[in-house]
Amino acid sequence: MTAQIISGTEIAKQIREELAREITKLKEKHNLVPGLATVLVGENPASQVYVGQKEKTSLALGIYSERHDIPVETTQPHLMALVDKLNNDPKIHGILVQLPLPKHLNETEVLYAINPKKDVDGFHPVNVGKLMIGEPDYLPCTPHGIQQLLVRSGVEISGAEVVVLGRSNIVGKPIANILLQKKEGANATVTICHTGTRDISFHTRRADILIVAAGRPKAVTSDMVKEGVVVIDVGVNRIGKTPEGKAILTGDVDFETVKEKASAITPVPGGVGPMTITMLMTNTVRSAKLAAGLV
Ligand code: GUN
Repeated sequence: MTAQIISGTEIAKQIREELAREITKLKEKHNLVPGLATVLVGENPASQVYVGQKEKTSLALGIYSERHDIPVETTQPHLMALVDKLNNDPKIHGILVQLPLPKHLNETEVLYAINPKKDVDGFHPVNVGKLMIGEPDYLPCTPHGIQQLLVRSGVEISGAEVVVLGRSNIVGKPIANILLQKKEGANATVTICHTGTRDISFHTRRADILIVAAGRPKAVTSDMVKEGVVVIDVGVNRIGKTPEGKAILTGDVDFETVKEKASAITPVPGGVGPMTITMLMTNTVRSAKLAAGLV
């Protein structure tokens, strides 16, 4: 079997087109413009790229975008004051503080200070808890994107054996939580494997859907999966540079061999990556609608 390639680039484009139409309607019918504020502290090059992409996508879709670039030597009170100002700004429906923050700042205190209603990352404990009990306002962006990749590719999730490699708060735990809910596009049997798991292959070989966020290139090889598995590769590993200086990326899955056994698989790049920013836009539009009482 050679796998169907699940294109995040294509599915993200579909969702963005739907969002652009919805944003136009919100403006025309309700005079409502969703607004997103991004906060970048310091000059981490990868973070600068991510924040730039978020700003560009917002503008392309008709979302009001405000970017706050703050010098690396900023103080905790200064950053807290900015979050407070954005919490109280009615033009802003979503606040995204780009992580990681410089070491001298208290990341937890900053994330906890964001009004949960504007927490479009879904990282605030209130939103983590709401997801856990099946009543989410926002799903965190990367896991939300993974669920959309599966649903929009026609993968049967209900009743499936889902195995997740990795237990991070940003990907592993939330995707497990999303897919186990008794809901459409979910209702799976979910196993989470991590560095303390005794026999990872025992679990991965049982998976109908394997979601890999292990943070290690080639963490999954073809002997670890069964025929017909659907594989979602969340990994982004920089393994070198092209002669032009562009990063060469690879996922956590040995794509070339695993694709010969899988029924469907995401590539890296062009799989999960493009979905994350798109779901941030989805969450920002949802926040604007919630604020206006439209949902
Ligand atoms: N840094 C890497 N990924 C993310 C993300 O999804 N949200 C934020 N705020 N920072 C990140």
